[in-house]
Amino acid sequence: MRLTLSLLVFALIIPLTASAHGGKIVQRGLTPIISETKLLKEVGIKVLTDDEQLGVGYAVVTPAEAARLSAKAHDYRRCGGFEALPASTLWTTSLANNLFAELHARNAKNARFANFAGIEHRQMIESALAQVDEQNLKNWVQWFSSYPTRFNKAPTANDHVNALKLKIEEMIKAAGAKFPVTVDLITHTSTPQKSIRVSITGSQRPSEIVVIGGHMDSINAEWLPPSKLAPGADDNASGSSNLLEALRIMLTGNQPQRTIEVMFYAGEESGLLGSAEIAQTYKQKKADVIGVLQLDMTLFAGDGEFTLGSMTDYTSPFLRNLLVEVNRLYVKANIIESKCGYGCSDHASWYRQGYPTLMPFESTMEKMNHNLHTKNDVINSTSNFRHSAMFAKIALAFAMELGNSTIREQ
Ligand code: BES
Ligand code: ZN
Repeated sequence: MRLTLSLLVFALIIPLTASAHGGKIVQRGLTPIISETKLLKEVGIKVLTDDEQLGVGYAVVTPAEAARLSAKAHDYRRCGGFEALPASTLWTTSLANNLFAELHARNAKNARFANFAGIEHRQMIESALAQVDEQNLKNWVQWFSSYPTRFNKAPTANDHVNALKLKIEEMIKAAGAKFPVTVDLITHTSTPQKSIRVSITGSQRPSEIVVIGGHMDSINAEWLPPSKLAPGADDNASGSSNLLEALRIMLTGNQPQRTIEVMFYAGEESGLLGSAEIAQTYKQKKADVIGVLQLDMTLFAGDGEFTLGSMTDYTSPFLRNLLVEVNRLYVKANIIESKCGYGCSDHASWYRQGYPTLMPFESTMEKMNHNLHTKNDVINSTSNFRHSAMFAKIALAFAMELGNSTIREQ
């Protein structure tokens, strides 16, 4: 009777063990594990392969060895002491080495975000984002697009530039910021139009610069012009307005640790003129630009409200990952990767000088607003300020997260 019972148990265990290892026969009772190399050695377990940097090794242990390992780990006030590897794989030393390589990659990724603005900053960023006001955006877009044109070759090329500088100066006064903020016009050699730079000096690492920007010029590129009006509401009064709203909110908050610069570029529509000169100058001066956000067209929700395109050409994985992270924490949009296919906006100027860039866009390239560069690029029933507000939030989260941390591209 006793014999029959043990035979039965034996018959049951064998197939279970075999199937648990994906049909491959593994010696019964042996468990492939990874554990601290130091611990393995201390209890006399043979380490089959190990990673010195991670301090972990791979071994195959008997139940008795596993128990010894656990007991030792307890001495060090730790729990199990090892991680059993999934039984669905037939483990070998080379597979274990692959696992170590994966761990390295994961650690490197974690390290990149380890110095993210601390948890205590989360509330500050959340409350900043909550202040984004769609009506302000609408007012700004109306203001920009009421100029007949903002074309860099028009005789009136600097009308809106000078007017905007005054408006920003008023905004700074109204905010009563207790930290240094400067506004200056940047003159160019390639165009008479000027760019505007607003600079908020960093409190702790002022030489490290975070740039958020967009172009404020517009163009009418129609072949048969009944008129040469270039209202440029979506392209790019929208991005410019997002930047102004982000600036307004930052001025009422705390001084950032790094310097934050808000840029309104000249002559983008004629070949990225303003940004090309600025990025070259920064490079020549060896300016430490940590990241550059470009906002160009944010008003048309071509892929649906709260779905945005993250352009993958002329942009940096480091900042595209950061976008994914701040989006997960604060914005909660749907992100679809897309491509311009060419240096379609000012981020390309910075990218060409070797600086990290990011370009979230109103939609994928396929679904973008096709009224751009015509007299029809005005506020109309397709203008979506709820959608556009998302980009002011991204600008804020980008500037505050990068501006208050020590992370940088590695
Ligand atoms: N906003 C447009 C272009 C654009 C298109 C941006 C699709 C993102 C996605 C921009 O203002 C523009 O017209 N750029 C020029 C660049 C050129 C002069 C280097 C263009 O696309 O022709
Ligand atoms: Zn544009």
